Amino acid sequence: MSSFPSYRPRRLRRTAGLRRAFSETSVTPSNLVAPLFLKEDADEPEPIASMPGQHKHNLESLTKEARELAERGVAGVLLFGIPATKDPDGHQAWNPRGIVQQGLRALRDEVAGDLVLISDLCMCEYTDHGHCGLLHGDTVDNDSTIEAYGHIAVSHAEAGADVVAPSGMMDGQVGAIRGALDEADLQEAAILSYAAKYASSFYGPFREAAEGAPRFGDRRAYQQDPANFGEALREVELDVAEGADALLVKPALGYLDVLRAVKDRFNYPTVAYNVSGEYSMLMAAVEKGWIDERQGALEVLTSIRRAGADLVVTYHAKKAAEWVS
Ligand code: PBG
Repeated sequence: MSSFPSYRPRRLRRTAGLRRAFSETSVTPSNLVAPLFLKEDADEPEPIASMPGQHKHNLESLTKEARELAERGVAGVLLFGIPATKDPDGHQAWNPRGIVQQGLRALRDEVAGDLVLISDLCMCEYTDHGHCGLLHGDTVDNDSTIEAYGHIAVSHAEAGADVVAPSGMMDGQVGAIRGALDEADLQEAAILSYAAKYASSFYGPFREAAEGAPRFGDRRAYQQDPANFGEALREVELDVAEGADALLVKPALGYLDVLRAVKDRFNYPTVAYNVSGEYSMLMAAVEKGWIDERQGALEVLTSIRRAGADLVVTYHAKKAAEWVS
């Protein structure tokens, strides 16, 4: 490499045209996935106080929002359900007429082909204790939980999910889900595995939104320790071996090193989840006038793409799709 004064990096930064021509990373609507919340007993869409601009939808507002996302070229939606009733075993999670299943059917009729339909597959919104699986005493029992995940996956795929996204961090969940889907003749349904998911404080606003905070304890006995990098790669390796079609790292911003390593080592479609707390943190600063929303959000999304994400799950999907078009 030559050096100053023959090499001057500022030459290629001089004008907007030069900067655009030499930009290494793009954010396009087709890189974005919008998380959407669907609430069973919502007469009207309910604003989520901790996540300005986001709502708990009813079926009508969900399909309207999905249509607007499709018009803007957003790649897909990640659907979360909030059921009217909860019980210890989270039965509503695999009810064929449950809220997510109704939502998937409505979206399949309205926007299939224009938006990839991804369903979050977990039990924390459905259990009355708020943990991500079936309890045995005070701990979440792994092996009975992954059997339940299989039932949930089948009900989602039958209702129209193109992709199911297990987020519970149980051991063997991807293999159990793949087995259940194949047995039900749903070989075409894909699995986006939350392969490296950390026990993060940045899920706080989501838990308010999805009404799924644990009633006791926390999730550190199944989600990963933020201190661990090698463990994340072992988690991903297991999911690849069990048949995951695409891999997700979550949260995004504090874990860009993990994201880059997962993309480089496994060379699978790689997704990053820019989670609720990352969104709310930015929006709080925006409301205070400390950060510009558009510049801040696009910088965040560009950084996540630069770190290796093919797709970014982001609460800014709709606005960002407009900004970059
Ligand atoms: C369900 C789930 C959570 C999120 C996605 N799926 C919450 C959690 O694990 O506690 C968080 C998403 C976000 O914060 O935006 N297990």
